[in-house]
Formats: sequence, structure tokens, C-alpha cells
Amino acid sequence: MRIEITPLHPVFAGECSGIDTTRPLPHATVAAIEAAMDRHAVLVFRDQHLTDDQQLAFSQAFGELEFTHGTGISKPGEQRLHPAFADVSNLDKDNNILARDNRRRLYSLGNMLWHSDSSFKPVPAKYSILSGRVVATTGGETEFADMRAAYDALDDATKAEIEPLVCEHSLIYSREVMGFDDLTEAERATMHPVRQALVRTHPGSGRKSLYLASHIGTIIGWPIPEARAFIRDLTEHATQRRFVYAHHWRPFDLLMWDNRATMHRVRRYDGSQVRDMRRTTVAGTVPTAVQAAE
Ligand SMILES: [Fe+2]
Repeated sequence: MRIEITPLHPVFAGECSGIDTTRPLPHATVAAIEAAMDRHAVLVFRDQHLTDDQQLAFSQAFGELEFTHGTGISKPGEQRLHPAFADVSNLDKDNNILARDNRRRLYSLGNMLWHSDSSFKPVPAKYSILSGRVVATTGGETEFADMRAAYDALDDATKAEIEPLVCEHSLIYSREVMGFDDLTEAERATMHPVRQALVRTHPGSGRKSLYLASHIGTIIGWPIPEARAFIRDLTEHATQRRFVYAHHWRPFDLLMWDNRATMHRVRRYDGSQVRDMRRTTVAGTVPTAVQAAE
């Protein structure tokens, strides 16, 4: 079957109409959404009044889900949502707004840096699916960068240079950039760096993309300052406005993006107002690089 997509940006991202994500979807519809994801990399579904169970069911149609236990600084018992959700709200488990100096809030400000979800895992994420239950009235946009278009726009010498490169990703590196360095030894132990190819090929579209994230700490075999300077250059290139779609949230928007083809970040918003966003994450199936021997 075909589904209707209205482009939101010249190179990627589309609004998908005529789909009710609260109901079980036929296989043909799931396949059509996957095909649209291969083409557009970011899809917006408007007016999706999902319960958590419905969001889980919709997400599971696209593969196994990632669980958030054991990553980041969240602890069992402190979580507001089912463990298959990444709680990207500014709320505690009792639905109170986090204080400005709350540790979890400060940690989550790392989401304002360009990243690809779960690039710090040996097998990184496929899709992320984010439901805007209560959205910020000013700011709080989610921006996406098309890493395929960014790759295509590189010159041939740069493409040849980066083709074999492998980067190290860890939450420690992205938090370090934010000045969030009071991680405990136990937390650091869960953030062991993993290796990811810098160039990856999408299994659905066959297109190559730059696999960047603020979680990158170095390039294997390179001096760290040279690696970080180069990654910063590539990130500046990849996040030029011509490659970026900024999503202005409406309540009950459901966004789906392909972490294998895009980076994203959240923009600043008023933290004294409730912002309730709930993310489910479809796990990837293959690593992008061979991991270091322990
Ligand atoms: Fe994210």
C-alpha cells in the first residue's frame, strides 16, 4: 500500500497523514511506513492521542524495543514510566517539575547537543518514536539533520579519508562537553566507550551517511585533539541549515526518526513549565564496527 507524505523540508522529513497509530497496523501499513522512513528519515504523525500501551504496541511493530535500565543515571524506582520508555520530560516520578539544579535535569540537558540515540551502545538504535503529551509553548523544538545529505555534500577527498574511520562513543564524552563531570564510578562503569563506524550504509536505502554524535570522544588511532577538531568540523558541516528540519511541536504530535540516517537535538525551553515527552526506541540489529577486545 501507499501512504500519503507531505514533505516538510527540501531534502528529508515528511508529514504522514491518514494513519491512526493508536490501533494495530496491518503488515502492509508497517511496511509502507518503513519504506517512507527509508526515504524521508523523519516522519511526523499529527493528532495521535496515544496511551503508553498504544505507543509500545505501535513501536513494537518495527522491531524489538530498547530498555533504558542500565544506561545513563536513572535508577530503578525513580522512573515515572515503563522501562521501555526514555522519559525526556522535565518531571519526576510524582509528576513534579524538576528543580533547576536537579541532577537528572542537568544530565538531560545533554540532549541539547547534536546526537544520534544510543550511539553509545555496541548495537545502536534503529528508530526513535517520540510522543508529545504536553509540549513547550515557546522553544523546545526538536531539530534534525540529514546525515545522508551531509555525507553526499562532502568532497571526494574527505569521503575517501573518512571511509575507514572508527570513532569511540560514550555518554561520558557528551556530558563532559556540558561540564557534567560528577559521575559516580558505578555510573562511569555503565558508560564504557564503544566503537562506531564514521560512515555507515543504510540497509533500506543503500545510502551512505555520516555517523556523528556528541558522544564521540576520539577517532581510533588519532591523537585526541586532532580527532575532536575534525569531528567538530564535520558536525558543523552536517548541521548547516540546509540539512536541518526544525520541528515545532503541537500537542500529540508523534515523531519517528531513523537514528541510522539523522542526528537531532532539542532546543532550549522554559523549564518552569511542564514538558511531557515520552520516547520509545526500536533497537538496531547490527553493530557498525568491531568492538575492542576487553
Ligand atoms: Fe535523543
